[in-house]
Amino acid sequence: MLLVAADFKNSGTAIAWQLMREGQSALTAIEQGIRAVELNTEDDSVGRGGFPNALGQMELDAGVMDGRTRASGAVGALQGFLHPVSMAYAVMTRLPHVLLVGEGAARFAAEIGAERGENLTEAMHDNWLAWCQEHGFDPHNPNQSLMETVFRQETKTSGGTTVYLALDAQGDMVAATSTSGWSWKYPGRLGDSPIAGAGFYADNRYGAAACTGVGEIAIRSSMARMVVAYMQMGRTVNEAVQEALADIRYHRDQDSGITVYAISPNGEHFVGYNYAAGSPRPYYYMASGDDATPARRDSVDLRES
Ligand code: GLY
Repeated sequence: MLLVAADFKNSGTAIAWQLMREGQSALTAIEQGIRAVELNTEDDSVGRGGFPNALGQMELDAGVMDGRTRASGAVGALQGFLHPVSMAYAVMTRLPHVLLVGEGAARFAAEIGAERGENLTEAMHDNWLAWCQEHGFDPHNPNQSLMETVFRQETKTSGGTTVYLALDAQGDMVAATSTSGWSWKYPGRLGDSPIAGAGFYADNRYGAAACTGVGEIAIRSSMARMVVAYMQMGRTVNEAVQEALADIRYHRDQDSGITVYAISPNGEHFVGYNYAAGSPRPYYYMASGDDATPARRDSVDLRES
């Protein structure tokens, strides 16, 4: 058994690992782990308490892939519901589709009785008002041009998506994600977290991978799929992550900071990053075998590899 998680406040890893130790599937365990992250308001990149978009709206993304069949489900720009990860699971198991966005995702959530809730906290609302003031954007006039007032200026970003990868006692592998995305993003923007093959991927035969950081880069490079494809071609899990991260040097035309997490069917794992010099080293949590609880680990600096 193996659990690898980007969960910066360590909100849900103990829950997920305990479920796996009790014999629950990776699929069940990591959904429960991520639900805990989504409720933790101290985590400012996921679920309730996350950063809103440029209009002060919470638009949440999540995805899941089941390595047994490569079944997948995802939601993008979901508003008004507390647990996007469970919506991703529901898309995978209850619809013939893989991705629902915006109003369609919210409609589906309402139809299946998903839990509604306000994800914008008072603290984040105040944060957003300060950001509007800093960028000369009138928060009471959502019709003014965001491109002119905001997106010509440098915008703050956040890379604290939660991703969970797990290999359970049955040998099944799962990847799942949840995020509020870039802080102050353009409304309707989707990152990699709801895109199978970009932000997450799982295939029992070869491995599973997921990404945090600048989602645009993971989409442009099909990052999670490439990592698993490299393993399919015979690379070790370390080599696969290194090769995929080396490849994105080709498009260094925007901030390409990304962390890549990968696990193999034989229980190995590797986490590497390429953030610019001076950025804090990303950490993650992992547990394997008989470990009682997940432990914090540092990811490997791959900027020069
Ligand atoms: N990696 C999360 C995002 O870019 O939205």
